[in-house]
Amino acid sequence: MNWDELINQAKKDISLIKDSKDSENWRIKYLGRKSDLSLFFNTISHLSLEQRKKAGKKANSIRQILKGLYEEQKKNLNSFPAIKLDITRPGERIYHGHLHPLTLITKKITSSFERMGFEIVEGPEIETEHYNFDALNIPADHPARDMWDTLWLKSKTKNKYLLRTHTSPEQIHYMEMHQPPFRIIAPGRCFRHEATDSSHEVQFHQIEGLMVGDTINMANFKAIIELVIREIFSNDIDVRFRPSYFPFVTSGVEVDIKLKSAKDPLLQGWLEVMGAGMVHPYLFSEVGYNPDQWQGFAFGLGIERIAMIKYRIDDIRLFFNSDIRFLEQF
Ligand code: FA5
Repeated sequence: MNWDELINQAKKDISLIKDSKDSENWRIKYLGRKSDLSLFFNTISHLSLEQRKKAGKKANSIRQILKGLYEEQKKNLNSFPAIKLDITRPGERIYHGHLHPLTLITKKITSSFERMGFEIVEGPEIETEHYNFDALNIPADHPARDMWDTLWLKSKTKNKYLLRTHTSPEQIHYMEMHQPPFRIIAPGRCFRHEATDSSHEVQFHQIEGLMVGDTINMANFKAIIELVIREIFSNDIDVRFRPSYFPFVTSGVEVDIKLKSAKDPLLQGWLEVMGAGMVHPYLFSEVGYNPDQWQGFAFGLGIERIAMIKYRIDDIRLFFNSDIRFLEQF
């Protein structure tokens, strides 16, 4: 064993140490169980006593030198940490996830209804022509079908499938499975083959509402809807009911809202946020209820439109383009 060479190599290696990992590797290489030095100690056990003494003395002195080198560099390493902490530097911003504005507003609206005893139900985004149209009193040749620009799906069966154009099919699904009296809301995504603009999207969300009993009337609808809308907007809102037409209601209405305090000219006008009316007796017959016994109201509320007014958003397309600068504001 050429001890001088070993010491020289050890010194060279020690000058290259940058961190505690290098330092540990150095220790293993020169002082560890498999180091040249340890192997040497193993071999001298076979020598005669005299030779063993001599070789052992030499090897021990080498071990002391190496240990000394190791302790020295460890001290140096500890006094100069590799990463210096500058406590005057500005901190790094931590990004954490949060809810999408549409989720926030949906939760607000649904919890408002829940407090008035409404149950939340959900249904499929892919529907049959029957649930989206026929059962809602909109037969194939009815001109009202033009109100909903439909995205049809290719189908190999007799049934015609589509992406639901509104959440109203939930009325039929629910009534087929339950008996009145009840009050439900059904939030969900809808799809229409429409040209987009600042208040129309190809995909958007609605909350369907349906309340059926033996004396439920339009005054109940007005009171409940005004209460929910005033709660969402902390009373800073005007609500207006306009006569309208939907084949699945009698005495149909549309509801517009307008902020009282809006300064932005884009938010000063009335915005239509829902269609509604008293449930058409045709639907009750369709699901096997007696239309002479039961009556109720239904509505379909546009979630994006409510969120636009609540959060002062002037273009509906911002909700879906995943621009982090927009989403971060909520
Ligand atoms: C309907 O969809 C009816 N199903 C509503 C209804 C339910 C009436 C129950 C009576 C009884 P309408 O097409 O008007 O109606 O849509 C209702 C609301 O959905 C609109 O007021 C609007 O807020 C929203 N909406 C409709 N189309 C779009 C669109 N392309 N982009 C964003 N929101 C939309």
